Amino acid sequence: MGATVKGIEAGESSHRVPRHVAIIMDGNGRWAQRRGLPRFAGHKAGVDTVRKVVEHCIQRGIEVLTLFAFSSENWRRPKKEVSLLMDLFMMALNREVKRLKRNNVRLRILGDKTAFPDKLQTRIEAAEKATAESTGLVLQVAANYGGRWDMTQAARRLAMKVQAGQLTPETITEETIAAELSFAGLPDPDLFIRTGGEQRLSNFLLWQSAYAELYFTDTLWPEFGKKAFDQAIVSFASRQRRFGQTSEQARASDVGTLSG
Ligand code: IPE
Ligand code: IPE
Ligand code: MG
Repeated sequence: MGATVKGIEAGESSHRVPRHVAIIMDGNGRWAQRRGLPRFAGHKAGVDTVRKVVEHCIQRGIEVLTLFAFSSENWRRPKKEVSLLMDLFMMALNREVKRLKRNNVRLRILGDKTAFPDKLQTRIEAAEKATAESTGLVLQVAANYGGRWDMTQAARRLAMKVQAGQLTPETITEETIAAELSFAGLPDPDLFIRTGGEQRLSNFLLWQSAYAELYFTDTLWPEFGKKAFDQAIVSFASRQRRFGQTSEQARASDVGTLSG
């Protein structure tokens, strides 16, 4: 059970801080363009926001933070922007791993890593390994990730198990599917934030967000700070999660999760 947010009255059943927050970090390009800077300057500024948001998650007792850094569709951007993003990803990994380790953060990269340059793949592996023993916040960075890709690779793995005789089609359940998805074993996102003003999912965590509370803000990612993050948490805290039940039932059972 999560802690309560400072300054929030613990009244209704759903006053808890979310266990898992997922964020679409959008608006870097527009932030830069509004300042007459190249889009890349926005991505660079966005890395600083990531650092602040990670620290805030630790302060708030959030267990899992999943950030959408690069979608499977972002390859469609100009070659130059894609390659600068790869360089930035590489640099951020090099620079941040020590700090993550010091803060007891476990880093995981979600997505199809095979499309990345070899150097980057090696770096990702090393960063994951270096923080593997951390027991605090789990930081998941989704890179070359797509919700449809995630479900497709899960389907492929299940088909292979059926082919190998380890599974029959009848024994495929929501649980067996979930177990093959990118972050099996971790709780589903409770709070799903998108910065930058757009109100769409852009192929992020499609399966896992089935019951996430959605929060959209016009704040551009480089400007998303602790205050803005707290506003999202306060909004989350004011909502009653019903998971299909009636409002009265939800209040009585104090449902915290789908299974709970
Ligand atoms: C999000 O910011 C970062 C990535 C997709 C890599 P954008 O680059 O999409 O910023 P806008 O939406 O163009 O402002
Ligand atoms: C979604 O942002 C992906 C990331 C933030 C990494 P986009 O900016 O790529 O999304 P669309 O294209 O506007 O839907
Ligand atoms: Mg965008």
